[in-house]
Amino acid sequence: MQRYTLTNSYIVFGLNTTNMELDKDIQPVSKGGFHCKLCDVNLPNKASVDDHLKGRKHQKLSSVRATRKAQEQNSLFVSGFVRQMSQLQLVDYFQQFGPVSEVIMDKEKGVYAIVEFSEAKGMELALSHDQHILDNQTLRVKPREKKEFKYIPKKKQDRGNMQLSLERLSQGLCQAASVSEQMQRVVESFQLSDNEKKVRSLLVELLQEVFTEFFPECCILPFGSSVNTFDIHSCDLDLFLDLEKTQIFQARAKGSSEQAGECQSEDARSEDSILSDIDLSTASPAEVLDLVAAVLRKCVPGVHKVQVLSSARLPVVKFSHQELGLQGDITINNKLAVRNTRFLQLCSGIDARLCPLVYSIRYWAKQKQLAGNPFGGGPLLNNYALTLLIIFFLQNRNPPILLAVNLLKEFACEEEECVIEGWDCTFPSQPIAVPPSKNTEDLCALMAGFFSFYGEFDFAGTVISLRDGRALPITGFLSKEAEKGEEAMQGLEKAGGSSTSKTVRLGPVNVLDPFELCHNVAGNLNERTQKAFRRECEEAAKYCRSLQYQRKSTKGKVWGLVRLFAPHGGGGAMQGSSGGAERNLAISIPFRAAALPDTVRSQLHSAKGLFRQLWFEKVCRAVVGVFRDVLKCSVTPSDGPEKVGARQEEEEEETGCGAVKDPGISAHAGTAAEDAMLADCTVPAGENVHETNNNYNPDTCPSSLSLSKKCNPQDTVHKGVKRPLSSEDGSLASPENKKQRLDSGIDHPSAHWHCLLWHRVWAGRRKVRRDLLKSLPEASRPEGGGVELETQVTERIAQERLGAEKLLEFTLEAEVLGGTENTHTVLKFIPGEDHTGIFQDFFHFLESFLPKMTEKVLEKLE
Ligand code: UTP
Repeated sequence: MQRYTLTNSYIVFGLNTTNMELDKDIQPVSKGGFHCKLCDVNLPNKASVDDHLKGRKHQKLSSVRATRKAQEQNSLFVSGFVRQMSQLQLVDYFQQFGPVSEVIMDKEKGVYAIVEFSEAKGMELALSHDQHILDNQTLRVKPREKKEFKYIPKKKQDRGNMQLSLERLSQGLCQAASVSEQMQRVVESFQLSDNEKKVRSLLVELLQEVFTEFFPECCILPFGSSVNTFDIHSCDLDLFLDLEKTQIFQARAKGSSEQAGECQSEDARSEDSILSDIDLSTASPAEVLDLVAAVLRKCVPGVHKVQVLSSARLPVVKFSHQELGLQGDITINNKLAVRNTRFLQLCSGIDARLCPLVYSIRYWAKQKQLAGNPFGGGPLLNNYALTLLIIFFLQNRNPPILLAVNLLKEFACEEEECVIEGWDCTFPSQPIAVPPSKNTEDLCALMAGFFSFYGEFDFAGTVISLRDGRALPITGFLSKEAEKGEEAMQGLEKAGGSSTSKTVRLGPVNVLDPFELCHNVAGNLNERTQKAFRRECEEAAKYCRSLQYQRKSTKGKVWGLVRLFAPHGGGGAMQGSSGGAERNLAISIPFRAAALPDTVRSQLHSAKGLFRQLWFEKVCRAVVGVFRDVLKCSVTPSDGPEKVGARQEEEEEETGCGAVKDPGISAHAGTAAEDAMLADCTVPAGENVHETNNNYNPDTCPSSLSLSKKCNPQDTVHKGVKRPLSSEDGSLASPENKKQRLDSGIDHPSAHWHCLLWHRVWAGRRKVRRDLLKSLPEASRPEGGGVELETQVTERIAQERLGAEKLLEFTLEAEVLGGTENTHTVLKFIPGEDHTGIFQDFFHFLESFLPKMTEKVLEKLE
C-alpha cells in the first residue's frame, strides 16, 4: 500500500483537538493514578496529567489524530476498477465532485483506493451520485470506514518483530542440553553467515576503489560490529575513511605543481576535480564529509539515503545500500574506534567465553529495552558500552578471565606499541601472546555472575576502569584537579599531552573507554536507565538462582535463557512508571555529580570516602530550603534515633577529613550555635510565612539539620577497626576496601524534621505561575522553573489565603543510602492526622516538584 505520509501535517493543522477529546483520553486507573489512552502511558497524579497533556508527545499525537480524522471524514473507499488503473485517472474522475487532495492506492493488489477530497462537500456529492463508471467498469464507492486512532510506538513494532524471532529462537534453545549450549545457539542464530560477511567485504572493496579515485591513497577500514566478532544479521557497517595519506599526497602534489609551474605533475593531474576543491589540511570535518557524501551519492552503485550528520559527537555520513539491505556509517576522525575494535577482537580471541556472553547479554539487554539505541542517541546503553561492561565483569572474576588493559599491555612487543591522539593504545596483536586464564567457570555460571555483579554494583559511587580492571572511586573524578591526578596515577602523561585538558562527563553510569580515558562510554545514560539496568540485573540474578534456569525441563517447559529473554512487560527504561516501592510516601533524590556546581564537586572530592555524608548534608540543606523558603512550611528538627555526637567527631579525627566539616552541620544538635540556627529555621505558625525573600540564596540559609546516625549493632562491631580512607601516600584507597566499609552499615546518616504546611501550595499552582509571569515586566521575570519564581508563586498562593490555619502536619525523615546501592537520599513522609485526605495530593505534587527544586537549590550551593 502506498502510504500517504503525515510528515508536516502537525504543522499544517496545528493542535485542533478540543478539551473534550483530551479529557476522554485520560482514564483513572483502579490502582491509583491515570492512564492516557492516546499515548499509552500511566500517569501517577493530576499534576503529571496536566504536564502530560501539555507535553510534546501528547500534543503531537492529538494533532496526528485530528488530521487523520479530518482525512477520514473526507475520504471514500473505492473498488471495482481495473488493475492497471492509475492514481491520476482516479483523481481525474473524482475531481468532477470537488477538489481531490490525495488518492492512496493499494499498490500491491491494485483492488482498492482511498480517495480523499479537500472538503467534505466533494465527498458528499460523490456519494450521492447514482453510478460511477470509469473505463467501462462500475466502481463501488462507499464512505471510508472510521477506525479509532491507535498509536503504535515504533519500539513496540520492533518488539513485535523481535518477538517473532524470539519464538523461533526459544524453540531451538529449549532443545539444547545446557545453558552453555543455549548460549552457543544464540551466537549461531544471530551471527552473520559467511556469505553475509563476504558481501560486506565486497562492499568495502568497492568503496575503497571508488574513494581512491577521489581521495588518492586513502584507506577504508571497517570497525564495530561487522568486524569485532560480535556481528549480527542487521548490524551496521561502520567505516573509517583514513585520509592521512591523502593529505600527504595532496601536500606533495601541491608542492610539485608549484615547482613545475604550469606543467602539472602526473600526481597533481590525477587528483582530479574533487581534491582540488578542498585543502584537507585546513578543511573542517563537515566539509570533508560533504565531499564523501557527494562521492557516495554519485559514484557508488546501489547507495541511497545518504545523509551527513555533522553535529554528532563524531560527524558521520550515513548511507544505505538497497540491494544488500545494509546501513553504513562513514567517519573520518575515528582511528581510536578501529583500535578499540581490534581490542575487542583480541579479547574474543583470548577467551572463547566472551563471545557467547556478549551475544546473550546483548540480546537480553535489547529485550529489556536497556540497550540498542538505533541511532546512537537516547538514554540507552550502546553495544560498545555493554560489551565493555561484560569485559570488565570478566576482569573481575576470581581468578580473572580477562586481564586489565594495563596488564595486557605488558605482553605487547615493541612493534605493537601504539599511541593514538595521545592515548596509549598498546596491546598485543595476537591472543596467543597472552597466557590463558586459570578460571574454569562455565557459561551458565558466568551469565548468572554477570547479573549478580551488576545487580549490586555501586554505579553512582564509582567509575569503571577497564584500564585498571577495577572500579575507581568517583571522588577521584569530581574535579579537574582530581582528573589530572587520576591521569598521573595511570601514567597517562607518558602517552602525550592531549588528555590532561579533558574531563570525564560523569553520569549515573560511568564506564571509561579503555583507551580514550576521558570518554565515558555510558555518559548518555540517565538515572532511569541506570535504575532499570540494575533492577533487571537483580531480577535476572534471582531467576538464575532457580532450577528453571540451571536445568533443562524434562516436561518441555521453557527453561534456561528463554525466560531471561522475555521482553520487558512495562516500565522499562524508556517508560515512565515509578516502581511499587517508590509509592510508599518516599521520594528519592539521586546523587548526580554532573548537576553539582564545581565548588561542591571539589568539596566532595576532598571528602573522599565521606563524600556521601557531605553530599547528604547538602541535600538536607536544600530540602529544608525547599520546604521552608519555597513552600513556606514550618520546619523544625525533630529527634532522631540518636544525635550525632562523639562518634562523628571521633570519625573525623580518625580519618583526618577536616574538609567535610561544614559549620552548619558539624555544629551538632545541642550546641548553642545550632539551637540558634534551628530557631531561625522554624517559622512559627502564621508568623513570618508571608515575609518575602525574593532573592533566595541557599548559602545564607541556616542549616536546620539534626544529623543523626542510626544506632546499628554493626557500629559496635566495627568500632575501632576502621580502615583509613587514604593510603599513606595520599592516593585514594582501593575501592574494594571502600566497598567493605560502606557495606558495613556504619555510614547511614539520617535527619528528621517535623513540618507544618499552611497553604495548598499545589492547588492552581500552574495558573498562579502563569499569571505571575504575565504580570511582571519581561526584564524582571525570574528564571522559569527556578527557585525564585517558585518562591513567589507560593507567596501569591499564601497571600490569597491570609490567616490560613495549619493544613497538614507531617514528619520528614531523610536517609542516605549508598554502598552497594546507588547513592541516593530517601525522603520518607509520615503524615500526621489528615482528616481531609489532602496529604496524598500534596505528596503527588512533591513527587515531581521536590526532586527538581532540590536540584535547583543544590545548583546554587557554594
Ligand atoms: P556500537 O555501539 O554501534 O557497537 O559501536 P557495535 O558493536 O558496532 O554494535 P551495532 O553496530 O549496534 O550492532 C560501534 C563501534 O563504535 C566505536 C567502537 O569501535 C564500536 O565497536 N565506539 C562506540 C567507540 O569507540 N566509542 C563509543 O562510545 C561507542
